[in-house]
Amino acid sequence: MAAKSERRILITGSSGFIGSTCIRALAARNDYLLACPSPSQMDVSEKESVAQSVTKYQPDTIINFAAHRNANTAELQRGDKNGSAWLANVVGAKNLTEACSTYEIYLLHISSDMVFSGKEGKKGPYSESDIPENDPNDLSWYGWTKRQAEQAVISNKNACVVRIGNVTKPIYDPRLDYIGKIQWLYDTGNSYPLFCDQNITLTYIPELVDSLIQLIDARMSGIYHVASDDVTTPVELAEYLMSNVRPDRNKVKKASIDEYLNTHPNRYPKDGGLMSQDTQKRLGKKFRSWQRVVDCFVKYAT
Ligand SMILES: NC(=O)c1ccc[n+]([C@@H]2O[C@H](COP(=O)([O-])OP(=O)(O)OC[C@H]3O[C@@H](n4cnc5c(N)ncnc54)[C@H](OP(=O)(O)O)[C@@H]3O)[C@@H](O)[C@H]2O)c1
Repeated sequence: MAAKSERRILITGSSGFIGSTCIRALAARNDYLLACPSPSQMDVSEKESVAQSVTKYQPDTIINFAAHRNANTAELQRGDKNGSAWLANVVGAKNLTEACSTYEIYLLHISSDMVFSGKEGKKGPYSESDIPENDPNDLSWYGWTKRQAEQAVISNKNACVVRIGNVTKPIYDPRLDYIGKIQWLYDTGNSYPLFCDQNITLTYIPELVDSLIQLIDARMSGIYHVASDDVTTPVELAEYLMSNVRPDRNKVKKASIDEYLNTHPNRYPKDGGLMSQDTQKRLGKKFRSWQRVVDCFVKYAT
């Protein structure tokens, strides 16, 4: 294996919410040579484009952040294997897996808690060894494409899948940040009711970056969960957040996910969330509780 400073990492999805943040953190460590082609330079859904980038950058590791991540627009493509969700998420993961197998490149693929249904009889939170949902009718289309991608990646012994969900970082970015968005909607007078009966976990980006580095350095294979050490609900989280940043707890509006799922079936897992105890043990880490993640958001991002 090359010395750490000579290790070449090719990163897809580098302009995205998570990819861009992870790249800044990886670059700050000065330990790796990073190649971050744009989708027009490397379209993961095009086999030839993947092959050209692998030849050009000669990576020993690929981190795949590339995805069609918007679950609402993905749902409009249900069943369409020519749609961008299937192409970016499934075909992309297959192309990367194939290239990595051929050139003995270590592949780290980012996946989602949405590969689980959270339904009655199959409730989360889910451990790393739980089998993801096998019925596409019990998942969102986005979740199903991520599920199919995982199957492709994990067939390669020199690869790992890292599942995350409800991502937040210590920089205020209200667009996609799970916690930041709640505060932003509240501050702009646009807050809508949050679910009081949905179980979720949080992924804190600094913990994700540290885990990725460890996985890459040791080239660990298998499935990993980077998630808060315990479960919460959107309402519980928002009330805790607001009691810290805007001490007016009554402002958090409540709704039931059951009613929402009547009109948007399978869009989100009701009893979802990821258990990360096995990952913490294997990496020798202790991930924060959801409250400590909110505390970090409040301390650094507000
Ligand atoms: N954000 C979350 O809360 C969350 C939760 C669970 C899992 N994840 C997973 O985390 C990963 C990163 O998500 P994110 O939130 O950073 O998503 P994002 O902000 O939407 O970024 C996705 C990236 O993928 C690129 N991309 C899309 N199609 C591509 C293609 N065919 N070839 C190459 N690049 C392509 C996008 O480029 P353009 O912008 O130019 O299209 C963008 O840079 C994804 O695997 C997602 O499923 C995210």
